[in-house]
Amino acid sequence: MTPTEIDIVQRSFAKLRPIQETTAQLLFLRLMEREPSLDNLFRCCDLKEQGGRVMASLGMAVGGLEDLDSLLPVLRDLAVRHVDYGVKPAHYVTFGEALLWTLEIALGDDFDAAARRAWTAFYEVLSSAMMEAAIGEVAQRRRSRRPCALGLQGLPQGFAPALPNAVAGE
Ligand code: HEM
Repeated sequence: MTPTEIDIVQRSFAKLRPIQETTAQLLFLRLMEREPSLDNLFRCCDLKEQGGRVMASLGMAVGGLEDLDSLLPVLRDLAVRHVDYGVKPAHYVTFGEALLWTLEIALGDDFDAAARRAWTAFYEVLSSAMMEAAIGEVAQRRRSRRPCALGLQGLPQGFAPALPNAVAGE
């Protein structure tokens, strides 16, 4: 992101502070409208509290844009926890659309073309770090669940290992 984009995102996020509860509720409404299956994931939690957490972590990311070396590991850890919550990498795309839609409503005229570009760039930073970490975590979990499958990769088709008698039960 350019310094100008960072400045735009930080200034417009500050404008959301007095209306952050409503902003979070709008974001959740839009998320579930676009992806009704997410309703199941959010059954676990009080949406008001959850909205506070999401806004706080968006604020942490917005405030950390000048220091990506510190920010990115925090986002990756957050994404790994989201794998346990049942969040799929594709859900981040829906979240991005819902976020831009919400900002358009919450910021009104302040959400001009430059602000849209800046927030799109912001979400690209956030979501690429989170999606990459989520995909890596899912792959890692798959590998550790099926260690034997790895050993059979690359064998010719129809290959049948000659089992030792004791294992084959003869
Ligand atoms: C569509 C995408 C997402 C879905 C479906 C989702 C869903 C969830 C769920 C189900 C929880 C667990 C709540 C609980 O157990 O009380 C959670 C926690 C949380 N989410 Fe998300 N989330 C999404 C994206 C994000 C993003 C992009 C952020 C950051 C900006 C975020 C920030 C948080 C935070 C801070 C928590 C509190 C728990 C923790 O820190 O691990 N979420 N989310």
